[in-house]
Amino acid sequence: MTRFIANGKSCEVKGLDPATPLLWVLRENLGLVGVKFGCGIGQCGACTVHLNGNPVRSCLLPLSAVADQKITTIEGLASPDGTLHPLQQAWIDHDVPQCGYCQAGQLMSAAALLKQKKNPSDADIDSAMSGNICRCGTYLRIRAAIHSAAESPSGATAVALGDEASTIASEA
Ligand code: FES
Ligand code: FES
Repeated sequence: MTRFIANGKSCEVKGLDPATPLLWVLRENLGLVGVKFGCGIGQCGACTVHLNGNPVRSCLLPLSAVADQKITTIEGLASPDGTLHPLQQAWIDHDVPQCGYCQAGQLMSAAALLKQKKNPSDADIDSAMSGNICRCGTYLRIRAAIHSAAESPSGATAVALGDEASTIASEA
């Protein structure tokens, strides 16, 4: 059995190989399908989630690595009361997504960037986002939306995590 915190909720996953990629656990066992499978080899960023606030590729991260750690997915980016993260609002305002497939990963990388750097330059953004591939070419809108979120009144709000506890048990 592996326990970890996902979006503020305590989760238990039973019966899985400890080497199972976190991506599959999130999607198949916890129903957090916002995180996407793109390449499966750490090259596209579609599967990006936060591990203790840092962006990680969940397709490469084994379940064993997240025991007793905090995971945040796109489903946990907004505040518990439903208030969108400034980046999510900026994504809407700038009409960023095209097909949308890469966008959860893009937002998670951008959120991690703003936690580290409140007013990132273009170069900071390009560097932080370079591991997130968008086949639709939304890069310029992503950059504009990140600047917009950084300049918004709510600024670089930290990723909000609910504190309610629930248990999701999964049998393989
Ligand atoms: S699916 Fe994980 S980096 Fe592409
Ligand atoms: S919006 Fe289509 S892949 Fe990025």
